[in-house]
Amino acid sequence: MFSQSRVECPILRKKIMSADEAVAFLQDRDTVGMSGFTGAGYPKSIPGALVKKAKALQDLGQKFRINLWTGASTAPELDGVLAEVDGISMRLPYQSDPICRQQINQGVMDYVDMHLSEVSQYAWSGFLGKLDVAVIEVAAIHADGRIVPSSSVGNNKTWVEQADKVILEVNDQQSIKLEGMHDIYYGTALPPNRKPIMINTPADRIGEQYLSIPLEKIVAVVETSAPDRNSAFTPPDEVSTQIAEHILDFFAHEIKAGRLPKELLPLQSGVGNIPNAVLSGLERGGYKNLSAYTEVIQDGMLHMLKSGTLSVASATAFSLSPVALAELNENIDFYREKIILRQQDISNHPEIVRRLGIIAMNGLIEADIYGNVNSTHIMGSRIMNGIGGSGDFARNGSLSIFMTPSTAKNGAISAIVPMASHVDHTEHDVKVIVTEQGLADLRGLSPRQRAEVVIEKCAHPMYRDRLRDYYERACASKRGMHTPHILSEALSWHENFETKGEM
Ligand code: COA
Repeated sequence: MFSQSRVECPILRKKIMSADEAVAFLQDRDTVGMSGFTGAGYPKSIPGALVKKAKALQDLGQKFRINLWTGASTAPELDGVLAEVDGISMRLPYQSDPICRQQINQGVMDYVDMHLSEVSQYAWSGFLGKLDVAVIEVAAIHADGRIVPSSSVGNNKTWVEQADKVILEVNDQQSIKLEGMHDIYYGTALPPNRKPIMINTPADRIGEQYLSIPLEKIVAVVETSAPDRNSAFTPPDEVSTQIAEHILDFFAHEIKAGRLPKELLPLQSGVGNIPNAVLSGLERGGYKNLSAYTEVIQDGMLHMLKSGTLSVASATAFSLSPVALAELNENIDFYREKIILRQQDISNHPEIVRRLGIIAMNGLIEADIYGNVNSTHIMGSRIMNGIGGSGDFARNGSLSIFMTPSTAKNGAISAIVPMASHVDHTEHDVKVIVTEQGLADLRGLSPRQRAEVVIEKCAHPMYRDRLRDYYERACASKRGMHTPHILSEALSWHENFETKGEM
């Protein structure tokens, strides 16, 4: 076991250096693949050292900007600080940082928003260009070079395979007992050489516990001691609780109708107030032996594992509050039996999502009356975060549930609009839409039937009559009765908001 340093490999011990020394391996315009997924497992010291380097170069009149690839969102100490010094030229595949968001929307940072399951194959195929350096946080390095991953896996396997050089950050704040929780699969290939990925239940392990990296690729090892972002948990508010209740009623109804087993099907849940409310509702509802095949394990899932509501959870990362992290670390031997952390091309793999029949539950920004869902854009043009894994799960799961409060910005915006100003999930992939007003089950309905249900069940009463009026006039115009629209008016609600501050 590790006594002091967690770098036991003699070859790598010789490469231990400070972050300020290690950034000598990173040059202006490099493409850098960093670890990190939803605030977990991101490098804690290289980004700060890069900021110093960028500022020093800027003082000399030179530029320092990198293309930054990660697993998903990271933390202000990575995305935020680098964006603040104008250090990111291009970003992929998902971010939720306010400074990055501002720069993307100002057009000074390029952003490639991708399905999270697809990033690896883009990189393997060479569509993204060359990866110069990988900067990866790990929990420990054994004497024989086996590497224990940290609190997220994300794209780390791909980054270390693709990069010319690898810098490892070994963080002693990550529990050493994470060892054994990971399942890194080395059987992926590009077409035509692909083989089935033999995950038949969320509990199946098909890979290795360790990350393999050729030692000669590792140019620097930096020892760090800093916690993950670990945002505080906010208890579900009233609207989230109402949304959760509609979903729980729907599950009960589906079980009664024989369309869902009493253990449901493996759950995928986004992060945030509404998903948390659904998870705690399942716990209160007396469900047992559920399973999760998802991206992120948040507080609610730990509770459910503890209580037996959930028997197993497969994901690519943790996203915990400080309290939940303490609980995980205190009882990690219990949780290690029930949690599997995989790389994101496997945690989100369409083949597995389809085979397992995942119930996908994700947030939305707006939905139109026909069931097209916008998860990413404000008023058609401004990015919020990105599509994340929602497309991987919604397109391929057996149930794709999208949930949102029926209004935003104190009622000035309706989440249900005549036409979505941007579409991430088409009407073909959206099975259920839920707001605090009610739940619209769109399965098997034609577009006009869907419009009736979405308006009646999901729209806020403030907007319901106007939506009905739009729909009826669109039908009366008889321009096309499959998906009736009045094109000159379809996006007028958005235009109203942009010009008058309300829809
Ligand atoms: N128009 C304009 N702004 C809107 C809006 C709309 N129709 N709907 C919501 N917003 C704003 C809110 O006012 C809020 O703004 P604020 O931060 O300034 O207060 C912000 O968007 C977030 O809304 P909120 O209701 O708090 O939702 P959330 O935190 O649950 O996030 C998404 C909703 C859609 C942004 C989020 O789920 C997301 O990024 N989804 C895409 C990725 C995904 O699904 N990941 C999980 C997959 S595994």
